[in-house]
Amino acid sequence: MNPLKFGIVGLGNMGTQHYHSITQQFVQRAEVTAVCDLDSGRLSKVSPEIPCFSDSLEMIESELIEALIIATPHYDHSTIGEAAMKSGLHLLVEKPIAVHKNACQQLINSYEKRPRQEQVFCAMFNQRTDPRYQRIREMIGNGVLGELRRMNWIITDWFRPDIYYRSGGWRATWRGEGGGVLLNQCPHQLDLLWWLFGKPSQVWAQCRFGKWHDIEVEDDVTALLTYENGATCSFITTTGETPGTNRLEIVAENGTVIADESGLRLFKNSISISEFCRSTDQPFGKPTVEEVKIPIDGKGSQHRGILQNFVDNVLDQTPLLAPATEGIHSVELANAMLLSTFENQSVRMPLDGDRYWRHLEQRIANSSYKKKTVTVAVNAADMNKSY
Ligand SMILES: NC(=O)c1ccc[n+]([C@@H]2O[C@H](COP(=O)([O-])OP(=O)(O)OC[C@H]3O[C@@H](n4cnc5c(N)ncnc54)[C@H](O)[C@@H]3O)[C@@H](O)[C@H]2O)c1
Repeated sequence: MNPLKFGIVGLGNMGTQHYHSITQQFVQRAEVTAVCDLDSGRLSKVSPEIPCFSDSLEMIESELIEALIIATPHYDHSTIGEAAMKSGLHLLVEKPIAVHKNACQQLINSYEKRPRQEQVFCAMFNQRTDPRYQRIREMIGNGVLGELRRMNWIITDWFRPDIYYRSGGWRATWRGEGGGVLLNQCPHQLDLLWWLFGKPSQVWAQCRFGKWHDIEVEDDVTALLTYENGATCSFITTTGETPGTNRLEIVAENGTVIADESGLRLFKNSISISEFCRSTDQPFGKPTVEEVKIPIDGKGSQHRGILQNFVDNVLDQTPLLAPATEGIHSVELANAMLLSTFENQSVRMPLDGDRYWRHLEQRIANSSYKKKTVTVAVNAADMNKSY
């Protein structure tokens, strides 16, 4: 079978990593047959035999590619994505699939109206390949944990110094990026929240804008999600702390699961909490608990795994791990946390996309923030560590 012909638009930190993953054959049955960037300096770094474009539409219509990877700043994901869909290409879009819910919906609509039924639409949610989250999803799906009661996710190890924000004119502005830590770093955890626990019924949040950096968007968030069954999830994130923490704790009827840097631990109750609570005759009694070892090997195949899964889906119809139609969920959660802060009240889900868009438009229109930028060379090894 012929390798799948990829075009990549956006050859910055992430696009370059995808380019190397394919050209250095970490992804099987794939080749890069065209690239596009507005910056000619970036294009000069690719192999001379690969055709280069400065206009993504020209590359999309060139007939040189069958699949497109979009790794541009966020606002272009949905506009370039719609053009690719209409042209019949398979599409792999970086997270977030768009900046706000309405734009996500527009991109999904273009997928639903795609000219070729077999077109594949995938999002780069590489953390779905992490075996810790895959095991948790299994334990929730097969009922081992029982009904969920309380979740806490502290994800504060996304530290970024000021120079990171100055390294791209688009970063950390309402007009260029459309948000901060919720739109750039946390789409991964917000995607996992929905993937694991489903849709919350209500979202409350306090976002702080430029609390730790000279930026106009949020870099510090404390949120509380409420679910239909009464379960709650507290979600805390920032790019202003180091060393920070990444700890997800799930308390369910049959046990407690903790995912952190040390791996995955399950503390299994001998009897469900509610049943014990109702039936025990011991005023200070507690169910006995067994610690179940869950061996976890590494963090999964990450970006290369999603790329390979995308190729395998196009060529062999292997089930897709991260369908981009699900990319609307993390954006809806991020938008809801921001909306809750803008209006200082809880937000009922599903989010009113028009209402959020009006706030975002206003933030863009009223911005007086003056962006300072610098050119920095990013070391690929550092980047791998930080995502
Ligand atoms: N999945 C992950 O773990 C992960 C990690 C990092 C970044 N990302 C995502 O990748 C995307 C890019 O981030 P980055 O850090 O690589 O940014 P970057 O600024 O390093 O690179 C963006 C590149 O896009 C080019 N570009 C901008 N607009 C363009 C257009 N209209 N047409 C063609 N080229 C254009 C720029 O010249 C630049 O080279 C973002 O959406 C980001 O959220 C994802």
